Amino acid sequence: MFPETTNVVSVRWSGDGSGVTIVDQRLLPGEYVERDLRTVADIVDAIRSLAVRGAPAIGVTAAMGLAHLAGAAAAEGLNAPAFRARISEYGLALKGARPTAVNLAWAVDRVLRASGANEDPETAARAMRREADTILAEDRAMCRRIGELGASLIEDGMTVLTHCNTGALATAGIGTALAAVYVAHESGKRIQVVASETRPLLQGSRLTAWELQRAGIPVSVVGEGAVASLMQAGRVDCCIVGADRITRYGDVANKIGTYSHAVVARAHGVPFYVAAPFSTIDAATERGSQVHIEQRSPAEVLSAAGHLAPSAVAALNPAFDVTPASLVAAIITDRGIFRQPYDFGGASPAGPASPIL
Ligand code: MRU
Repeated sequence: MFPETTNVVSVRWSGDGSGVTIVDQRLLPGEYVERDLRTVADIVDAIRSLAVRGAPAIGVTAAMGLAHLAGAAAAEGLNAPAFRARISEYGLALKGARPTAVNLAWAVDRVLRASGANEDPETAARAMRREADTILAEDRAMCRRIGELGASLIEDGMTVLTHCNTGALATAGIGTALAAVYVAHESGKRIQVVASETRPLLQGSRLTAWELQRAGIPVSVVGEGAVASLMQAGRVDCCIVGADRITRYGDVANKIGTYSHAVVARAHGVPFYVAAPFSTIDAATERGSQVHIEQRSPAEVLSAAGHLAPSAVAALNPAFDVTPASLVAAIITDRGIFRQPYDFGGASPAGPASPIL
């Protein structure tokens, strides 16, 4: 059953307390199916297979999943050392599910830290559950804040190009880059969105177009190959995309295809914005070349609703690319809008944060 409201809840606690429930994004837009995740294998598989996807959403899912698993481990009556060993093992498995989005490891580490050092398993599991709830609530709040700040960059009448899916499906709230679109629309600005289809898994055409259509926001899907000519024709006023990891100096790892949109935007004088939670900034990584880019199966490139290439031909399938900081006009976070030279405060060696808003 498709939900009647436009508000999609991509991840939530299961009603009977037995785990975490996600919307299976692999099936959209054809079918709306919720899936209960109970075991560590369920959660890892859902993240790895992109049943749940988007950097913030996988972080929140892993945080809630780990808290749920810790509760189950405590209920088994494990002693404290066995409990610690078990939750560390779960944490490692969850962090290993996908490598590029920093939010995944960040959220898992937060929940592990919340377990404290010497507490008994029941107390530790309760603390982990509280931390997962906090991460969930923070994610919703940060989406709203990013949306408000991002909307300030979108003027009435603009056409906004976006890539992949950065909306409610990709977060626990209203999204990051798409949050800016939602808030601009809410405030009465007449805007249009161009969603690039995002080969090979089509997050733009399957998910972004689905979300925006339900919200009543005009959206046109385009193949990646059409983006340059649209910009050349002056039909895009700004680009806003999300991020999976932003390095200390502002390089942006995001869905494959982001970089080429940024190059084309620069060539045509179109501002290229990135919207992401502050927690997506990875101070430990200086440059984009150091980011681990997930390589996915060639099968995703070679087939989609039937074969697109001769069988057994080789294919490359990097899931993300890196847009150099020099191509990004501003980074919109829940802690403000940052422009070059980046100074992310606590996340940077360079001193206090200096957002322009
Ligand atoms: O492989 P995906 O679909 O998880 O990739 C998602 C993206 O690249 C998003 O742009 C990013 O995670 C930000 S989501 C708010």
